[in-house]
Formats: sequence, C-alpha cells, structure tokens
Amino acid sequence: MSTINYSEKIPNNVNLGEDRTLQRALEGWQPNFINWWDDVGPEGSTNYDVYLRTAVSVDPNGWAQFGHVKMRDYRWGIFLNPGDANREIHFGDHKGEKAWQDVPGEHRANLRRIIVTQGDTEPASVEQQRHLGLTAPSMYDLRNLFQINVEEGRHLWAMVYLLHKHFGRDGREEAEALLQRTSGDQDNPRILGAFNEKTPDWLAIFMFTYFTDRDGKFQLSALAESAFDPLARTTKFMLTEEAHHMFVGESGVSRVLARTAQVMNDLKTDDPAKVRAAGAIDLGTIQRYLNFHYSVTIDLFGADQSSNAATFYSSGLKGRYEEGKRSDDHILKGQTYKVLEVVNGQLQEKDVPMLNALNEVLRDDFIKDSMAGVGRWNKVLEKAGIPTRLAVPHKAFNRQIGALAGIKMSPDGRVVSEAEWTARKAEWLPTPEDFAFVASLMGRVVEPGKFAGWIAPPVMGINRQPVDFEYVRFG
Ligand SMILES: [Fe+2]
Ligand SMILES: [Fe+2]
Repeated sequence: MSTINYSEKIPNNVNLGEDRTLQRALEGWQPNFINWWDDVGPEGSTNYDVYLRTAVSVDPNGWAQFGHVKMRDYRWGIFLNPGDANREIHFGDHKGEKAWQDVPGEHRANLRRIIVTQGDTEPASVEQQRHLGLTAPSMYDLRNLFQINVEEGRHLWAMVYLLHKHFGRDGREEAEALLQRTSGDQDNPRILGAFNEKTPDWLAIFMFTYFTDRDGKFQLSALAESAFDPLARTTKFMLTEEAHHMFVGESGVSRVLARTAQVMNDLKTDDPAKVRAAGAIDLGTIQRYLNFHYSVTIDLFGADQSSNAATFYSSGLKGRYEEGKRSDDHILKGQTYKVLEVVNGQLQEKDVPMLNALNEVLRDDFIKDSMAGVGRWNKVLEKAGIPTRLAVPHKAFNRQIGALAGIKMSPDGRVVSEAEWTARKAEWLPTPEDFAFVASLMGRVVEPGKFAGWIAPPVMGINRQPVDFEYVRFG
C-alpha cells in the first residue's frame, strides 16, 4: 500500500487506476500544470538534468531515490501516508468519533477554503523563485533550489487531488484557478501577502525557506491533525519534504554568516562598508532581511482573534501543532489565552477565549521554533569570536494583519512615534541600497565545487555525494 505506482501516468499510492472518472479529470489537469511549469517555473532550466530525490514509498525510512532527471519529467504524483481504518477524531466537538473519509456537507465550504489557501502557496513560491537559478552561488545551491521547486509543485498536486476527488465541480474549478493566480500579479494575485512579495536574491531565498517554509510546517502540522482523514494523511507526507526546505534556509544563512565572520576576522573590522567592500554581506543587512521575512511570515498566521479559527478547531478541520502531545481536554471551551492589544498607543496583554486565539497559539509555536534556529546562527558568530548577535524582532514589529497592524514598533519592542519610525526604518528593514548591494553580489557560479565569495561551502554534499559533485548537468 505504501509503495508508489510509477507505471501510471500519474504516480500514486491511492489506487487511482480504480477510479476512472477521477483519473480522467486529473489527466485533464496535468497538461495545464506542465504548461504552468514551463511558463513560470525555473527560468531556462528545461534541458538541465538535476540530481533530485523522488519519493518511491511513503514509509518513514528510505522513501527517497536520487538520480539525475529533467525537472519537467519529475514524477509528480499523489502520495498519502498509510491510513488507519480505526483513526478517531482527537479534538473539538467531534472528539472520539470516527475520522471522516469524505467531506461532511456542513464543513464543505470551510474545508475547501482551507485546502485552496494551502494549495495556493505552493505554486506561488515556485513563481517567486523563478529567476534565482540565474544567480546561483554554486551548483550545490542550484540543485537545492530546484529540489524545493519540484516538491512545491508536488504539494500543489497533493491539494489538487483532494479538490478533484472530494469537491466535485467546485473543486475542479478551484484546481484550475490555482494555476491562474500569479504571485505579485496586479489583477489576479496569490491569496496570501507573503506569497506576493518578491524573492529577489539568495539571501532572501534562504530567509524565505527558513521562515516562510516553516510557516508551511506549522500549517501542515495543524492540518495533519484534521478529522478529514485524506487531508491529514497527505499533509503528513508533505511534512517529510518540508524539512529539507527549512534545512536549505537554515544552513544557507549559517554559511553566509560563516563567510561574513571570516571576512570580519581577516580584516579585523566590524565596519559594514569594509565588509561590503570585501564582497561579503554585513551583519546589519542580514539582520534587516531577517526582520522583514520574520514579520511578513508571522502575518501568515492570520488575525490574533478569529472566529474562523475557533470554528475550524471545534469542527475538527484544523488542530493545533502537535495536538496529540498536549495534555489538556482538546476541546478548549472556557479556556483563555493571552494576546496583545494596543491601548492608548501602548501594548497590553489581555486574556481572550482560547478558541478564538488559535491563530495566535500557532504563531507562538512558530516563534519558539524560529528562535531556536536563530540561536544556532548565533553559534556560528560566537565560534568565530564575533560579539554581534542576531535576534528576531518583537512580535508586533512591522505587522500588517490583526490587532497589531498599524502600530509603529521598534524591533526591540518599543512603541515609537511616526517620526521615529520614518527616521529609523532604514536601520530596521532592508533599504533599496541593501537590495542593490546584495543584488550586486549575485553572479552565477555553477562550476562543480566553486562557491560565490559571499557564502561559505556547505559541510557536506547531498545524499553523501561530495560537495563538488555534478549536481546539475546543463544540457
Ligand atoms: Fe510546500
Ligand atoms: Fe516548502
């Protein structure tokens, strides 16, 4: 059951061949997906043979097979984690009932909205990253970018399968629309803000995969608890792929820091101008990129108080991160949670019903997880003897969504005047000069084993291959 059938046009482990109607519908969508990939997927990559991993089974161990493939021939498909026929709903008002194999009519609209919103982020990130291959700092990094791109494409397949199988005609229309919205498009943008931002350079993609793919991890983890069993099973499998995306971000930033620290030590300087002149990225710029990507990403969790969040939880559609490991009643009625609000221009905590604060609960879980990795980045600086430390900004910094939108807050958590914000914004968020400087470093370095001057090589290669392995063969 957990082996994937690659003899069919659409690889799958859901016995697609036994459901001719569904198979035909998905085979109708497939050419549109390939057209989308050709139009807005990685630029100029059609003839490349890329050393990619492909899922061959959904068993937790050994599910990946590595080999050189053309990305447009990547075996995108439909892979669900093995099911448990006796699985019970373990939170919300339906707790203790059998998990659903089909969509209950009363939850149809909400479930479709959840699946479409998740599905929309997957192709969006491929679009955002479309041009980065042209400025890769190494062949190793180029390969990692492409790995992420094909897996986000597969995540789109995962959501489209659910739409086609469980939502009839509406589902098929939504699946088409997922290929029509475009990241950053004026008239038909992607659904969520962070997925319409630009990812202009490789410092941005490392921050994006560290922070924004981690949002993916938390959203998918919450959906992996769902009472709708096919959604739970497919998101569980997506999570195994997501881990590599976050690794690319975390190790990417670590390598940038290692190189910057080396330059600072060689020149015995902490002057950003001298660091830049030596072709490395100064720590101030790295911190400003971090501030931007962190603040834009925590907005993705939505409003701090939300009746939708309460409905999604109580009706069993979306759980909390690691719901099964928590020791409360998993119903949460009558419980409270602290959120921030602005009173007379100052931040205050207030207790609100926990069910309404579940976006904030998930955001706080994300923040904890994010900070752990920033601590590991600081270890790189500490080891190199550099006293500067990176930090995530205050939760209320640069927010556009929820009760904190519209207040002006310094990264260290002081409410500031409009005048101070305007005067100091350039210390806190990347400036046009920062972007121009980072862009000036972005040349294409793709000879095996060579690395751009602003980033250190990785400690090891992919799948135990050497760092100078030919990860991409250019056709
Ligand atoms: Fe994804
Ligand atoms: Fe991802």
